[in-house]
Amino acid sequence: MIFSNISKEYALILRNIQSRRGHFRADKQHYFVLHDILPEKDFQHIRELLLKNKTLFLRNDSSVRQGSSMGGHELRKSPLSKIADIIDNPKFLQKVQSKTGIANLQFVPEVDTNRLSLLYYKDEGDGIDWHVDGTIYLGDRWAGILTIVEDIKESEAKLELKPNGKPTTFPVDKMENSLVLFQGDQVQHRARPMLMDEQRIVVSLLFSTNPTRTRNPILRLYQAWVNYIFYGNPRA
Ligand SMILES: [Fe+2]
Repeated sequence: MIFSNISKEYALILRNIQSRRGHFRADKQHYFVLHDILPEKDFQHIRELLLKNKTLFLRNDSSVRQGSSMGGHELRKSPLSKIADIIDNPKFLQKVQSKTGIANLQFVPEVDTNRLSLLYYKDEGDGIDWHVDGTIYLGDRWAGILTIVEDIKESEAKLELKPNGKPTTFPVDKMENSLVLFQGDQVQHRARPMLMDEQRIVVSLLFSTNPTRTRNPILRLYQAWVNYIFYGNPRA
């Protein structure tokens, strides 16, 4: 048992180092686009809540990303907590598991602010350049972007992936209420910069096939730093 965890820890460190260097696992470049993931009534409810409460988002620009956001802990204490109730529950998880065929997919623990968070892009230039995420969980990292509002002038959605190094876009007209799932530490991704008078609000979800957090303090410290940049909250 201890032995198998040590080898998983070692594999995790190696994965982080290799993806930092631009070496990605060829067997982890697959992604899913799950259309109409929420029942229409729930989707409209979330959409109205978000459009009514845009002032709750905090702007937190960094060298990496421009935009506003709300981490999971703040969300659950806010008037937007209903959003967490609708998405962060066994029924929604089961739907994602059955549509992807990943039976062991789990949300990361609730202490992780990335389990369910919100991103709001509204000003010209808001976005995040090509990158891969770090990861602190022993299993596969699956990032989920559930688009709630994508009110833009372009025909392709702002979220882009680069599986196997090949830039991939999604038609914007099918983006709202779709969940895009990808292994964020292995597939490069970006949010193309916003143009003037555009807005985009997404729910960001984080899953893992083994949501056991690494005991490696360096990786955990790195994740705390990323969380601080994104949400002004170092809790990881
Ligand atoms: Fe990312």
